[in-house]
Amino acid sequence: MRVGVTGITGGIGQAVNELFGKRGADIIGFARQPGPLQYLLDVTMHESEISRRIGEAAPTGYDVWINLAGADILSGDNRKKSYLERLQRLWDVDVLGTIKCSRAVIPYFQNTGTIINVAWDEALSGAPGDSASLYGTAKAAILGFSASFAKSVMPKIRVYVLSPGWVATRWAKSLTEEQKSRVIQQSASKKWIAPEDVAEALWEMIHNSPPSGTIMMVN
Ligand SMILES: NC(=O)c1ccc[n+]([C@@H]2O[C@H](COP(=O)([O-])OP(=O)(O)OC[C@H]3O[C@@H](n4cnc5c(N)ncnc54)[C@H](OP(=O)(O)O)[C@@H]3O)[C@@H](O)[C@H]2O)c1
Repeated sequence: MRVGVTGITGGIGQAVNELFGKRGADIIGFARQPGPLQYLLDVTMHESEISRRIGEAAPTGYDVWINLAGADILSGDNRKKSYLERLQRLWDVDVLGTIKCSRAVIPYFQNTGTIINVAWDEALSGAPGDSASLYGTAKAAILGFSASFAKSVMPKIRVYVLSPGWVATRWAKSLTEEQKSRVIQQSASKKWIAPEDVAEALWEMIHNSPPSGTIMMVN
C-alpha cells in the first residue's frame, strides 16, 4: 500500500509514518522543509506545482492520500497575530492546501484510491474562544468540501474525514500545565488524545473501508 502524507514532520504525521511503516506500508512523506526521507511540498504552492511534485514523488501512483498539513495558530508568535491573520493562515494551509492536494492527487491513483482529510471533533458543535472559532471555521470548510468531493469522485475514490479532539502534539507542548488542563476541561473529549491513537484510527479507517463520505470522530 503506497500512502502519500502531507505534514509528515508534525506530531500526527510522525505517528502515521511510524505505525504505517511498521505495518509494511510504503510511505511517501511530504514536508515544507528539506529532509532525508521526505519530498518537498508546501501546500500553499500553486496547484500546478503541487500536482507536479505529487506526481514526481510516486510515478507508479498512490493507493491512499492523507492531508495532514495544518497551520499552527496556537503556539509561539503565531498566537499574537490578529484574528484575521490567523484565519488567513488556516485558510491557506488547512483549507486550500487540503483542496489543492485532494484535487491534484486524483490522476495519480490507479484503479481505486482513498483520500483522508482532517477536521476537528468540535468544528460543527462549537467551543468557546477565538482559537476555537478560527479552527472551527477552517475545519468545517474541510468537512463541507469533503462531503461534495466524495460524491464527485465516487465510486473510484473514497473520501473520508477524520475528526479528532485535541491531540497532544507540538502545540500542546507549548502550553503551561494550567492552560493544558483548561483547554481539555472545555473540550468534548475531556482528555488529550495521543497522536498514535489518531494514526491507529487512520489505519482502521483505510482497512475497514466504510462508505465514502464517512466522518470518523477520534475523541
Ligand atoms: N493537534 C490537534 O489537537 C489536532 C486536532 C484536530 C485536528 N488536527 C489536525 O491534524 C493535522 C496534523 O496536526 P498535528 O497536531 O500533527 O500538527 P503539527 O504537529 O503542528 O504538524 C503540522 C504539520 O503541517 C505542516 N505544515 C504547516 N504548514 C505547512 C505548509 N504550508 N505546507 C506543508 N506543510 C505544512 C508542518 O510542517 P513544519 O514541521 O514544517 O511546521 C507539520 O508537518 C492538522 O491539520 C491539524 O489541524 C490537530
